[in-house]
Amino acid sequence: MEIAPGASHLPRYLSIEHQRALVEQCRALIDGPVPAYVPVVRGGGRMHVRMLCLGRHWNGKTYAYEATRADYDNLPAPPLPDAFRTVARAIARDAGMPFEPDLCILNFYDADGRMGLHQDKDESTRSLAAGLPVVSVSLGDTARFLFGGLKRREPVESRLLESGDAFVFGGPARLRFHGVSRIIPGSAPPELELTGRFNLTFRQYDL
Ligand code: SIN
Ligand code: MN
Repeated sequence: MEIAPGASHLPRYLSIEHQRALVEQCRALIDGPVPAYVPVVRGGGRMHVRMLCLGRHWNGKTYAYEATRADYDNLPAPPLPDAFRTVARAIARDAGMPFEPDLCILNFYDADGRMGLHQDKDESTRSLAAGLPVVSVSLGDTARFLFGGLKRREPVESRLLESGDAFVFGGPARLRFHGVSRIIPGSAPPELELTGRFNLTFRQYDL
């Protein structure tokens, strides 16, 4: 389960029933009153996912968290649903990490979805210094996930994240580079009736 100090892959963590319930919530959220959108980031590039932040909004132009979506439509970030918070807490506990999640970035990847190698380092200095984890939940199509080191040029390992898998990186792994090189279309469990992939990354902004 622990693949490196502070980093754990928990394959098939969620039952198919639990996955179905979460997928339903994700679908309702991304097409709800505060819909997911394709962010345009600092350098002007469009991301290759549809994003919706819950609990706190991550602004792709400033790389800062805020209450309302100043980079898009000024709508307030919807609250983090209790069912999401509960599963994230349980995963962190099972990985042996303290965690009180207060925000989630929900991303939808279609067949062409991907995410370049990056660090998650926009949470508070105290949260990062404490090594509070990022907890990731994958639903739907399998992703080829890249997990590197603390410097961009360090070697990168690739592993498949399948539907229902959890992945946690905290402690000494909190600032490791990571990304998604591709999605494997049509690989989602048929029971989910989902084309594409949802990924939820939970974080705790502050202590
Ligand atoms: C992310 O790094 O924010 C997303 C990772 C993933 O989709 O598995
Ligand atoms: Mn990330």
